[in-house]
Amino acid sequence: MTKRISCRAVIVLAALAVVPLAAARADGLDPIAVRQAAFSLNNGDFAYIRSVVKANGDVKPLEQPAKAIALWAAVIPTMVPKGSEHGGNTKALPEIWSDPAGFQKAALRLGDAATKLATDAKAGDAAAVAADTKALGEACGACHKSYRAK
Ligand code: HEC
Repeated sequence: MTKRISCRAVIVLAALAVVPLAAARADGLDPIAVRQAAFSLNNGDFAYIRSVVKANGDVKPLEQPAKAIALWAAVIPTMVPKGSEHGGNTKALPEIWSDPAGFQKAALRLGDAATKLATDAKAGDAAAVAADTKALGEACGACHKSYRAK
């Protein structure tokens, strides 16, 4: 128990450590730095989910990180305001702005996959959570393929 919590804390702290590095401007909200920091946190949550599934661990605690991913998915479309197409070291592709409906759909897909994982984790259904984890990873990859530069 203690081991799992401290392991998770390390992942979250490691992700948080990215924020000051990415925050190029100190004079206000920088949507590029914010979304990159949030995607990094997302990455930490997803890595934690994958590691528990791989180790055949208790899936119940995965409800929380899955919920966090779902909450983030719901606001992804608001994190690409006009004016944030360029700047910093953004990898966002112009297709986000030329095809906003497609981008929104990709974000919805992530939200649906994460919500399903949260529900199955809460129920303690390890087999379903394993399948959900695969679907979640595919939702990340599908959006990156179309909307994020390599
Ligand atoms: C709806 C589209 C979309 C989905 C879904 C998505 N991403 Fe991303 N992701 C992006 C875009 C766009 C960027 C580039 C942001 C930028 O550089 O401005 C990005 C960047 C990242 C980064 C780099 C952050 C940084 O520090 O520069 C990581 C890591 C990442 N995503 C992980 C994930 C993971 C893990 C998932 C699934 C749990 C996921 N993403 C789902 C669009 C998406």
